[in-house]
Amino acid sequence: MYTGILHTHTLVVSLFIVLYLIKATLLVLNRHAALDNFVKKTKVAEMIISTLFLLTGIYLAVNTGNKGTWLWVKLFVIACTIPLAVIAFKKKNSSLALISLMALIYAYGISETKSISMKKADTAVNTEGLEGAAAGKVIFESKCQSCHGADGKLGLSGAKDLTQSALSPQEKIDIITNGKKTMAAYKDQLSQEQIAAVAEYVQTLK
Ligand code: HEC
Repeated sequence: MYTGILHTHTLVVSLFIVLYLIKATLLVLNRHAALDNFVKKTKVAEMIISTLFLLTGIYLAVNTGNKGTWLWVKLFVIACTIPLAVIAFKKKNSSLALISLMALIYAYGISETKSISMKKADTAVNTEGLEGAAAGKVIFESKCQSCHGADGKLGLSGAKDLTQSALSPQEKIDIITNGKKTMAAYKDQLSQEQIAAVAEYVQTLK
């Protein structure tokens, strides 16, 4: 469900940006008649796209495991951009249209990187002096809890209840290493020992 909604959201947002890009270009080129014509022709499509944009966005915001600052900044940027864009096209103001286009692309960038500076965050976890499930617990709290919850049952971002997992320790290690659906691959963030440790900790959540 979550992954399906996520794909739908990415698709409608991309379509929205494409429509917006065409309209902003026509406005900047002063092709007002062509712009009015384009707006008229795409009116129904735009209404459907905007509604899906909003509904899938609300669903994702509620069910996202990783609710960092990035999410609130992104929602704030979108909330400011929409009225700005409406005014830009009403007043046929190309600078406002370009500013809101840039804001829209910025919001997309935040979303993809989950960071307001659009850089991937420093991802290492320090487990010095710990090993096995004790190291695994530290890793779990820093990397896994946002979706799976402290007890493994939370299930945000489409995550599975880890206490019900029928997978063998090796199968868990494979999923943690390579990722699955919305769960990232952890092979670049965690060492092999750390992955084994967190898998061992997950075993204890039953
Ligand atoms: C962005 C959210 C998210 C984060 C963070 C996350 N997971 Fe997951 N995890 C998922 C999703 C979604 C699935 C289900 C994938 C599928 O559909 O099979 C999953 C599945 C799993 C499974 C397989 C469960 C099963 O029985 O199929 C394990 C084990 C697991 N995660 C462990 C971890 C560990 C350990 C971490 C931290 C290193 C972690 N996850 C971080 C979202 C997440």
